[in-house]
Order: sequence, then structure tokens, then C-alpha cells
Amino acid sequence: MTGLLVAVELTKSFGSTQALSGASVSIDAGEVVAVMGPSGSGKSTLLHCLAGIVRPDSGQVRYRDQELSAMSDGQRSALRRGEFGFVFQFGQLVPELTCLENVALPLRLDGHRRKDAQRRAAEWLERLEITDVAGKRPGEVSGGQGQRVAVARALVTGARVVFADEPTGALDSLNGERVMRLFTAAARDSGAAVVLVTHEPRVAAYADREIVVRDGKALDLARHT
Ligand SMILES: Nc1ncnc2c1ncn2[C@@H]1O[C@H](COP(=O)(O)OP(=O)(O)O)[C@@H](O)[C@H]1O
Ligand SMILES: [Mg+2]
Repeated sequence: MTGLLVAVELTKSFGSTQALSGASVSIDAGEVVAVMGPSGSGKSTLLHCLAGIVRPDSGQVRYRDQELSAMSDGQRSALRRGEFGFVFQFGQLVPELTCLENVALPLRLDGHRRKDAQRRAAEWLERLEITDVAGKRPGEVSGGQGQRVAVARALVTGARVVFADEPTGALDSLNGERVMRLFTAAARDSGAAVVLVTHEPRVAAYADREIVVRDGKALDLARHT
């Protein structure tokens, strides 16, 4: 298979539980893909394998034709920092920092000067329509605003793939839809691919296509290539 990010025949067990039993997927540059399936079907495990967070028992994950398992831990974490972005169910923002500082943080860790990092972070807050939360701490903003901060933080470094695991799972449907609209628009604008785990069809509707995971196997639906 060709593609920006390709998984071939992944298997992964946790004790006697087989989470993945031969899952294969291919993600192209810039596409938004929803990973759907019932609870416990292996969606999060698949996402963690694709992102190089979990090592599969067998099978391969390739990013730009480089096999993740052949990389050193240092190379894999450099890849995660430089090319990947992450959005989880609960934003996982740093509570002591302001929202602006949270978005600027990955740039600061990359060695950008404070002023430059904060200017770029402010641009991302504007794109996500949350300039008003810049000076607030995560504990002082709504769930939907916090998730938009998390999206800004995932994209600010120019990530090529953003992994999102139930990013609207803790939001009501109105806020969930707003996050998805702004998230997918911002990702499409910057050409980032999105791997979006969700069990909500309303959220999946923002994707270009769906991959259904069932019993640890992945099925590509309506692949338009
Ligand atoms: N770290 C873990 N330790 C033990 N079992 C796990 C772990 N992660 C996932 N599992 C199990 O693997 C299966 C798939 O889990 P998961 O990938 O989280 O599914 P989903 O995200 O679709 O709900 C489930 O039966 C789950 O309990
Ligand atoms: Mg999950």
C-alpha cells in the first residue's frame, strides 16, 4: 500500500485480550479520516500504533515509507514532536499556563523565541475563534474552548498528521460540532491529515472517509483515491 501513513496487518494483545487482529489502513496526506467502531473494538489501540506510541506485536507501520519499528526511540519521539499532533478527549492542557502559553509551548520546546512563539500561537487562537481565552488558564474556559486550544496546540508546529481520540467525547453536540468544524477547516487549510477516532456518526460526518474497526480488524469504507 502507498500512502503517507500506512499500517499493514497489525496485531496487538494485552494479556489474553486481542485488541488488534490484522488491521491494515492507509492514510493519504491531507485527508481527514474517521475511525469508527463500537467501544472496545480496538480504535484507540490502532491510533496509538499509527502514532508510534504503542508497538504492535506484529505487522508494520510506515510513515513516509519509513518503518516506525526500525527507528530508535529518539527518532520516533522526534517524529512525534516534529510531524504529529495530538488531541485527546480531555484537552490535556498544562493547567498552570495560560491558553496562549499552552499553544506556544511546543514552539518554545522546539527552540523558538518567546515572542515569535506567542505571535504564532495568537494566530492559531484567532483561526480557532478563541482569541478571548488567550490570557485565561485552562480551568477558566469551557470544555469546547479548551478543545479548540488543544487543536491549536496540535497544529501550531505544522504537524502533518493530527491524531484525535474522541476529541468531542466530553462536549455537548453544539460545542462538539463547533470544535469539529473549526478543527477540520484548520487542518485542511494547513494540509494536515487527521486520524479521528469517534463513535459518533455526527462527528464522523466531518471526515472525507471512514474506517470501521470491528474485532480488531479495520475496514476502509468509500475510499476515494
Ligand atoms: N493498556 C491496556 N491494557 C489492557 N487491555 C487493554 C489496554 N488497552 C486496550 N485494552 C483492551 O483492548 C481492547 C481494545 O481497546 P481499545 O483500543 O481501547 O478500544 P476502543 O478505543 O475501540 O474502545 C479492549 O478490550 C480493551 O479493554
Ligand atoms: Mg478508545
